[in-house]
Amino acid sequence: MRDLSLYDPVWRAAEPYMRARKNDVHIPLSFAWCQKLLALHPGADADICSLAILLHDIGWYSIDMERILTEGFRSENFLTSDVRVLHEIEGVRLGTEVLKATGWSEDVIAQVCEIIDGHDTRSTPHHLNDRIVRDSDKLWRYEVTGISVAADWFGTTPGGYADRIEGELHKFETDHGRRMAEEALDISRAQLMLHVL
Ligand SMILES: [Fe+2]
Ligand SMILES: [Fe+2]
Repeated sequence: MRDLSLYDPVWRAAEPYMRARKNDVHIPLSFAWCQKLLALHPGADADICSLAILLHDIGWYSIDMERILTEGFRSENFLTSDVRVLHEIEGVRLGTEVLKATGWSEDVIAQVCEIIDGHDTRSTPHHLNDRIVRDSDKLWRYEVTGISVAADWFGTTPGGYADRIEGELHKFETDHGRRMAEEALDISRAQLMLHVL
């Protein structure tokens, strides 16, 4: 297991931005999924992926929560909505500030920001690091915690949300990511009694 304490200064610097849109739950959970995927993909860059997943959503901090829900989650084209684009632009801006303040090189900052930029609205990933971050971003939704939080965001029930994300398994970028999501969803369905609820 890698020593992850080298990222503690980044967590601390990003802490104010974690208090938006349940980032303080989504990001630690997705960060942990990222570490699992990294262990299975030795060709990926562990620092770039870890920093990118840690910072990818901090741009939500700049956007009003009501707008996030109505436009970013419950609208027809929510994945390409203006607030989605805005959270990516703000993520690059704030992420750059955090990484500079914590001493990361220009090269690392450029690689991390390349992933943050368009992480929701760009249709295709650039490379393996990008694919690992995209799968890490999705995996937490298959846990009980993610289903609970995201069902509220989308204005549906846990069962309704579980069905929705089951239909999105084909969107995973890696085979390991998809398998982990399937396993997590099976566990979540049992724990949440979704065969009756
Ligand atoms: Fe995002
Ligand atoms: Fe995210």
